[in-house]
Amino acid sequence: VRPTTVLRREALTVTVPVALAALLAAAGPASAGTGGASGAGDPYFPLAGNGGYHVDHYDLTLRYEPTSGHLDGTAVLTARATQDLSRFDLDFKGLKVTGLTVDHAPAEHRRDGQELVVTPPRPLFRGEEFRVAVTYSGTPKPVTDPDGSLDGWIPTDDGAFVAGEPQGAMTWFPANNHPKDKSSYDITVTVPENRTAVANGVLVGQRTAHGLTTFHWRQREPMAAYLATATVGKFKVEQYTTRDGIRVYNAVDPREASESAPVLKKLPSVLEWESKLFGPYPFRGAGSIVDRAPDVGYALETQSRPLYDSAPDLSTLVHENAHQWFGDSVSLTSWKDIWLNEGFATYAEWLYREQHSGDTAQETFDDLYARPASDGLWAFPPGDPGSGENIFGTPVYARGAMALHELRKAVGDRTFFRILRAWATEHRGGHGTTAHFVNLAERTSGKDLNSLFQTWLYQDGKPNTP
Ligand code: ARG
Ligand code: ZN
Repeated sequence: VRPTTVLRREALTVTVPVALAALLAAAGPASAGTGGASGAGDPYFPLAGNGGYHVDHYDLTLRYEPTSGHLDGTAVLTARATQDLSRFDLDFKGLKVTGLTVDHAPAEHRRDGQELVVTPPRPLFRGEEFRVAVTYSGTPKPVTDPDGSLDGWIPTDDGAFVAGEPQGAMTWFPANNHPKDKSSYDITVTVPENRTAVANGVLVGQRTAHGLTTFHWRQREPMAAYLATATVGKFKVEQYTTRDGIRVYNAVDPREASESAPVLKKLPSVLEWESKLFGPYPFRGAGSIVDRAPDVGYALETQSRPLYDSAPDLSTLVHENAHQWFGDSVSLTSWKDIWLNEGFATYAEWLYREQHSGDTAQETFDDLYARPASDGLWAFPPGDPGSGENIFGTPVYARGAMALHELRKAVGDRTFFRILRAWATEHRGGHGTTAHFVNLAERTSGKDLNSLFQTWLYQDGKPNTP
């Protein structure tokens, strides 16, 4: 009973008048009603992600030549149709597609901006699992984000710094590029033997032959595409297992090594401290990638293994690792809710300082609140930054953290920390929205918190009273 659409079409062809049948045939094999949407419906990034299917697993096999900047890749996606699909999109920008199959059969495809539009040889049915294999090659280039920063595959003097928030994943693999869709990953990267390729999760294999080394990484826990990395460089590598059984892999640019060492040494204690506060660390693998990349200007919470463009300070280490709970394990449903990532990771920094003989969170709050109404901190409300240009703006980070501090004062420490932990636990490996969080806070505290969140997340300008 699989090919219902085909049966229906055949039934039509035999019963309708000849002229109409000819018209239907001219419309082609894809009936217009069952194309997957070109975006996941995100108001800030309308083309990010795609409709009509979920990717269960990505198997990426890459070969990178740092001297020429050439990348060869094969991406095998195991996906499931969430509707009948005569056609679907992948997000993929730049690189040349040299082959594409759906369930091992060559499939028609065309490029339309960042959309790779695929017409499988026969329609897919709702609920059906299918396999898409894309081979590609070329010289990957980053995209420029709405805020002007580089994102995606960013070449460096000895390899590439690979970070994808919010849109860069599509510069190096075809993806359903929206955090709504999370998947497991196998990432296998071959590089010259004097380089290291570091991706997410746990290193499951490494071998060298004919002057090339292949690194095979496996990320089992669901991951949003923007958190994937395959950073390549000359790195000093350190590996160990923590007391909690977490496999740590640190890869450090030798030029950043002496400055990084004292901070990276604290990683196990930072993860333990965060686990006490937020619940068990959500992944099998952990670590750091420190890759000197002067054009980047930010760090990213790449899943299980944050990526730094230079030696991080301790607060940045705390921030990126806090994202493993808030942002990576608990993912956004819409980029508009970005404060759920950045406000929480920033508040983790405040808490760390407070509990390690630094300023109290209240002092940090007070310093920020003292800024005049004209300060950029009050330029827009963190719960509604307005556009993709603002998602990494100061209000999202600092006022987002201020909103959490206000919540803490309103409900008291015990309840506040219960809320934080419940958020990470109840949505572990999944998704959350601001509405879910407000609901959880109200349920846990038994208080009406509507006006608090209204003021701190949504009100324009500087709130009158803290
Ligand atoms: N999420 C990163 C952080 O830890 C910031 C990423 C900024 N990315 C960008 N394309 N501007 O705060
Ligand atoms: Zn952050």
